[in-house]
Amino acid sequence: MAEFRLPANSRYADVPGQTHAAPAGARNVRRFRIYRWNPDSGQKPRIDNYDVDLDACGPMVLDALIKIKNEVDSSVTFRRSCREGICGSCAMNIDGVNTLACTKAITDVKGEVRIFPLPHMPVIKDLVPDLTNFYAQYASVKPWLQTRTPAPPDRERPQSPEDQEKIDGPSACILCACCSTSCPSYWWNSDRYLGPAALLAAYRWIVDTRDEATGERLDDLQDPFKLYRCHTIMNCTEACPKDLNPARAIGEIKQLMASRQH
Ligand code: SF4
Ligand code: SF4
Ligand code: FES
Repeated sequence: MAEFRLPANSRYADVPGQTHAAPAGARNVRRFRIYRWNPDSGQKPRIDNYDVDLDACGPMVLDALIKIKNEVDSSVTFRRSCREGICGSCAMNIDGVNTLACTKAITDVKGEVRIFPLPHMPVIKDLVPDLTNFYAQYASVKPWLQTRTPAPPDRERPQSPEDQEKIDGPSACILCACCSTSCPSYWWNSDRYLGPAALLAAYRWIVDTRDEATGERLDDLQDPFKLYRCHTIMNCTEACPKDLNPARAIGEIKQLMASRQH
């Protein structure tokens, strides 16, 4: 899997962090190096070390974070909800890779477990990125069914199994933002480029055969930045913890655009 390493960052490199030792007698100790920053504190970011006894910890990185918060340092801040890879809340950069803490096994990481917030996003605190722009971009593609004709009076709008298959994949997106925050085009142009997550959502509705706003949806994306900043680098598809393929979806949107122009 490709690594999305954070740029060397002198903001925290020279700030000493704290080290929290494992309990006496612990035999299976692993060090977790966690990015800590409270913008309200006026202090620079730092990395704190937490030595965790894996014999007294669940198997996933999120288990270790919860253990650290519950038993060692309640100030460590991160998002999580489902613990099942469904809600997308616990996305973060672990060992250089954007992924979900709840599905990332600690044993998948060799040596120290380095944990940072998703790259190139504003940080609210510690491991919590500000996703306001990300969600606004998602909303901007109008991720809901748009129709003009009334539904049949006696049943829902029909859809063949083949047509359903087209949207099965993109519908499984959990909006974790692992893809968009691994995309170099998004890092540098997130104010104007929609990024792979929002574009996958746009694609999901463009190919939905029940939707009657396909033309308007494509018109909205006909823009030098919103869609065409994708340079098919494929980091997004590598990063997706749900094995989705936003890069292919973006390529198919571009093909639909091209076919309209002939
Ligand atoms: S394929 Fe496009 S969206 Fe995906 S990482 Fe590359 S530039 Fe970004
Ligand atoms: S496409 Fe994958 S990586 Fe991107 S937001 Fe959806 S689930 Fe997350
Ligand atoms: S806690 Fe929901 S995806 Fe990890």
